[in-house]
Amino acid sequence: MRIALIGYGRMGQAVERVATARGHTVIGVIRRATPPSERESLAHAADALIDFSHASAVAESVDLALRTLRPLVIGTTGWDSQREAIAQRVRETGGSVLYAPNFSVAVQVYLHHAVTLAAQLLRLEGWDVAIEEVHHRGKADAPSGTARALAERLQHATQPPREAVYPAPTEHRLTENQFTVGVLRLGSEFGTHRLLLDGPYDWIEITHRAKSRDGFAYGAVRAAEWLRGRKGFYQFQEVLNEILSYLEEQ
Ligand SMILES: NC(=O)c1ccc[n+]([C@@H]2O[C@H](COP(=O)([O-])OP(=O)(O)OC[C@H]3O[C@@H](n4cnc5c(N)ncnc54)[C@H](OP(=O)(O)O)[C@@H]3O)[C@@H](O)[C@H]2O)c1
Repeated sequence: MRIALIGYGRMGQAVERVATARGHTVIGVIRRATPPSERESLAHAADALIDFSHASAVAESVDLALRTLRPLVIGTTGWDSQREAIAQRVRETGGSVLYAPNFSVAVQVYLHHAVTLAAQLLRLEGWDVAIEEVHHRGKADAPSGTARALAERLQHATQPPREAVYPAPTEHRLTENQFTVGVLRLGSEFGTHRLLLDGPYDWIEITHRAKSRDGFAYGAVRAAEWLRGRKGFYQFQEVLNEILSYLEEQ
């Protein structure tokens, strides 16, 4: 595939590395300063666009993909408030977009099992939960998209629903059905997510820690391969089902 990248920071460079290793060609990069005509011709020449830029650029990337009829994979986070409107526009105009706040296959498996375990224990008396995330100090949004996804899934999995609170209240206590999401920004940390469970007799921590950015890049490239020929607004789950399907075949 010929891939055009939108954003060429830490993640854009990881995508280039992984895409090249999988036999694809990165034909060019759209940067903040790239003029509209150049963006357009690069998109036309590409089979797929992959965006790891900034939340403020996402709507523009979607416009470019819809105008040039190119599939777009979005890894950029921090634009949740626009997500539903963008998804609707993509569906209405027959576009092809896939978004995931975290493209790591291991993180997705982690989220699934962590939420299942937490939901089971939180049904018992005296259990409490919290989330903590740690990322490099250059990260633009907080909490991370993955921490938000974990919190959201947890809210839906608990009965009665528990509400995520961030930042933690400074002048009053949490209510019984609230839990906190803690954020740390430190050095060059690629990304750590921790689910903490506190019970009457036990303490459980379930942690995922990324060893590099290549795991995210791998998922994004697999998503671009999967998206070819499909129309709609997708999440990573369907790509993940395909990646993990070997488990069922064994
Ligand atoms: N979904 C996932 O699995 C995953 C994993 C890791 C990170 N992320 C997210 O991916 C995004 C990028 O992360 P990163 O670590 O690569 O950040 P980064 O190193 O800061 O790189 C961001 C790049 O985007 C460029 N950019 C900003 N606005 C742009 C625009 N309007 N058009 C084109 N390019 C633009 C920046 O260019 P300039 O140099 O000109 O500013 C920079 O090169 C963040 O939102 C992060 O949270 C997602």
